Amino acid sequence: MKKYIISNWKMLPKTTAEAREILSRADAFLEGLADRIEPSLIYCPPFVFLDEVQAMLEQSHMLHDAELGAQDIAATDEGAMTGEVSGPQLNASGVRYVIVGHSERRWKLGEENAVVNEKLKAVLRNGLVPIVCVGEKTREGDWKGWLSAQLRATFKDIEAADVRRVLVAYEPVWAISTTPGAKPDTPQSAGESIELIRTLLSDEMGVSDATVLYGGSVKPDNAAVFLGADGIDGVLIGGASVRPDDYVGILGELVKTLS
Ligand code: PGA
Repeated sequence: MKKYIISNWKMLPKTTAEAREILSRADAFLEGLADRIEPSLIYCPPFVFLDEVQAMLEQSHMLHDAELGAQDIAATDEGAMTGEVSGPQLNASGVRYVIVGHSERRWKLGEENAVVNEKLKAVLRNGLVPIVCVGEKTREGDWKGWLSAQLRATFKDIEAADVRRVLVAYEPVWAISTTPGAKPDTPQSAGESIELIRTLLSDEMGVSDATVLYGGSVKPDNAAVFLGADGIDGVLIGGASVRPDDYVGILGELVKTLS
């Protein structure tokens, strides 16, 4: 049983020293384990820390357990695009995963489904692994229809073989810790939404074995219920992933779940 723990550092930490602290605490924790576990840890730092994090992973006990991800990608591979970072550049920096469709980019930075779809194609074209975030803003009205439409538009014209490569992260916007009044989803209700996602991917895209994770206010005190749930392949963590105590606490819950 493989469970992913994806860290989305967003626009944190402020300094390289703090980035080092997060990783060295995780490294010390993994080193101290009596039994070997096989965590699938993915770190998605801001672009400016990619090289540093890559170097730290190579020097640590996490060498075989952790991989590097980016939080965004340019939709095109070349051209004059001030501020953008291309797929070939990410590849050259040792990046293996790329987040696309995060709700903050969708709702705060105005990325429409069509842009997310272009970025998803850029990730695939560059041989990287997409982490595709989807999730409804509210549970009012026909939210299931809304979520289904978002999924269809996000995955438009993507072949089944490529959908199979994607890690889908179900992240209801109302559950993300920075949303005012946020509260985590429950494994039952998240499980229901994830089931809806799986059914759509299977019925409409021919992928019956998609990888689907949950994200939204995951912390040490609720990580175990999500990590232990059948049908949830792991968690995407935001805020708690840059708080060393909380992050190591979540790793501890992963170890308990896997042992
Ligand atoms: P959170 O963020 O864990 O702070 O709720 C999750 C995310 O935005 O990916």
